[in-house]
Amino acid sequence: MELILIGFMGSGKTTISRMLGKMLNTSVTDLDDEIVHRTGMTIPDIFAQNGEEYFRQLEHDTLADIIKSDQGILATGGGTPMRPDNLTILKDTSTPVVLLKASATETLRRIGGDSGRPLAKSLDEKGIADLQAQRQVNYDACADLTIKTDGLSPAAIAEEIVSFLNLPISAN
Ligand code: S3P
Repeated sequence: MELILIGFMGSGKTTISRMLGKMLNTSVTDLDDEIVHRTGMTIPDIFAQNGEEYFRQLEHDTLADIIKSDQGILATGGGTPMRPDNLTILKDTSTPVVLLKASATETLRRIGGDSGRPLAKSLDEKGIADLQAQRQVNYDACADLTIKTDGLSPAAIAEEIVSFLNLPISAN
């Protein structure tokens, strides 16, 4: 991989990865999309029918496969760094890991009641802040760069990442 994006649900991983894929003329893989593709099931259906543990195993297996590729950008799921074996993968990789961080207020605005996110749909702002706090230690443990995204445009975030990576922007 050339770049891995991590961060809480609604932090902008998918949007920013797509923008960077165009700017750097490289492929983009979204871990959740890959799981949906491999299983033929939606994320809410996997959670509802097989439970979170089963989803986390799929998430781990998919991450372990994808990390082997030397090209492209990977957008992880918000919970990916929480499993110790995933955290080890993300800490040990030589690929830059960038953490996108939005406030609980902004996160609620983006994901509140989202039926596509089984773990978010019943969370209020306090619930989001608590879960963000629980996850922060693991996020920080593997991030090479953290961007606080509140008030920044997607383009400004993408540019900050490109300048961190020190890569030329594609003319395509
Ligand atoms: C999850 C985040 C989701 C998805 C699943 C669980 C989490 O991905 O993997 O619903 O535990 O935070 P996004 O961060 O892309 O929403």
